[in-house]
Amino acid sequence: MPSGKSEKLMDLAKRRGFIWPSFEIYGGVGGFYDFGPLGSLLKNKIIQKWREHYVLEEGFFEIDSPSVMPEEVLKASGHVDHFIDAMVECQKCGTALRVADVAREATGRDIEGMPKGEIEQFIERHKVRCPDCGGVLGKIFDFNAMFRTTIGPGSRKVGYLRPETAQGIFVDFNRLQRYARGRLPFGVVQIGRGYRNEISPRQGIIRLREFTMAEAEVFFDPEDPHHPKFKDAANEVLRLWLAGDQEKGKERLTEVTAEQAVKKKLVCNELMAYYLALTKRFLLDLGIPEGAIRFREQTKGQRAHYSAETWDAEVSTERFGWVEVAGLAYRTDYDLSGHAKFSGKDLTMFSADKKRKVLCHVVEPSYGIDRPLYCVLEHAYAEEKKRTYMRLKKSLAPIDVGVFPLLNRDGMPEKAREVCEKLKREGLMAVHDNSGSIGRRYARADEVGTPYCVTVDHKTLEDDTVTIRDRDTMTQIRVLVGGLHGVLRSLLRDEIKFGEAGAQVGAKRLPEEFRRDTP
Ligand code: ATP
Ligand code: GLY
Repeated sequence: MPSGKSEKLMDLAKRRGFIWPSFEIYGGVGGFYDFGPLGSLLKNKIIQKWREHYVLEEGFFEIDSPSVMPEEVLKASGHVDHFIDAMVECQKCGTALRVADVAREATGRDIEGMPKGEIEQFIERHKVRCPDCGGVLGKIFDFNAMFRTTIGPGSRKVGYLRPETAQGIFVDFNRLQRYARGRLPFGVVQIGRGYRNEISPRQGIIRLREFTMAEAEVFFDPEDPHHPKFKDAANEVLRLWLAGDQEKGKERLTEVTAEQAVKKKLVCNELMAYYLALTKRFLLDLGIPEGAIRFREQTKGQRAHYSAETWDAEVSTERFGWVEVAGLAYRTDYDLSGHAKFSGKDLTMFSADKKRKVLCHVVEPSYGIDRPLYCVLEHAYAEEKKRTYMRLKKSLAPIDVGVFPLLNRDGMPEKAREVCEKLKREGLMAVHDNSGSIGRRYARADEVGTPYCVTVDHKTLEDDTVTIRDRDTMTQIRVLVGGLHGVLRSLLRDEIKFGEAGAQVGAKRLPEEFRRDTP
């Protein structure tokens, strides 16, 4: 980022306990990051929001299945044979490179999905060389991005760390369709770790080798791909970057409502359009601005082996450009048919509505959690003349409220601690801080996006009132300690306006550096 904003953001993220490299004392390993205390709180809140959309509102069933999978599951799903990248090794320096990346860098052409024989001719024809040393490139070979292991001692039972949580859902289909009692469409979600041995993970938490996924598999009758609540989403405007436009090198976005997208056959069916709209709503709910969201249709060569149509939800970032945060794929009956064939089990279901057997098709909204988390931090990061703060949505802020004594004497620290304990008992994430000056305490709270700070001062000791400071405007109000938790709760839920929640405190009383610049 030209301004150095992203370096400052990453420095803040490490220093304040959001994210840091894993195994740091041993030099770290590419593609692995830890979430520190604040990062974990933020991540859990993002997951919570996702659950609100998919489990509460959509009414999908949530399951939790193992991360280690026996080989037959991933053979049936196609991952053993198709979850591969074509690689090439430099004959001079020995670096292994992803061939599509080298070709794109050298020629600007997208050769994703090109058959191996043709790739070799392409390399030859365009004289593509090693970007590191200029050496000649050798034979193309396959690299499977799954982590392989053995289950139990010995080498007989091969297993893999799951590359997606989805397969745990497909293999449970028979039990799940019974749980759904023949109702279609029905959805099942899983939130958990996914593992991919990424080739060169150099983009922080954007490209991890172990990451958190939140996936929904929506099972439906292919003859009836309707969503019962489609009218709620029909008018949501979607900004689509169509595959055809990408192939012609056009950056143009097509803006249509979800309803028009289906009518004009830009998306495969109503369910896909509905989940594109829901994805947009989820991202808006995380505080991502509408103009920073688009949906990119994958070209045929870019699509995963199981997909007949894929849309990537992308968010614009200063540091990494457009970042894919979710992939929405029309998986057809690919997975259920594959597992039926390999397991020998019948994976059709009886539709209670249609009174017939159905081999379900699947639309899958598949989200990573780490990438949206980065986007949330970047979009919330704000610098003003005299302060840096995180404009996080209140519902995402890791800490709800900081509680401080104005001074570290006259019983103020003890009273602040007592107020803080009371707020915690009421279920608020409250943190007591009495180190440094009051100005430093506000600055620390701003930096991690804490929406409100409560200060115990001399007046508190006289009339049991405290001040509440608003992160974004830095203005203050005064309220009774007795009603404090109720006021804070209403503020956090946006049920009342800050200015109306208590008695105004004159701006004069604020320390110089925290006065508002604008009225
Ligand atoms: P990419 O093209 O960037 O490698 P992908 O198309 O392989 O991503 P999907 O297979 O669609 O990604 O996975 C679904 C979601 O999982 C992605 O949208 C992303 O949010 C997340 N995800 C995938 N790979 C990674 C990774 N290596 N690190 C962090 N998140 C990831
Ligand atoms: N489940 C989507 C993916 O892993 O690509």
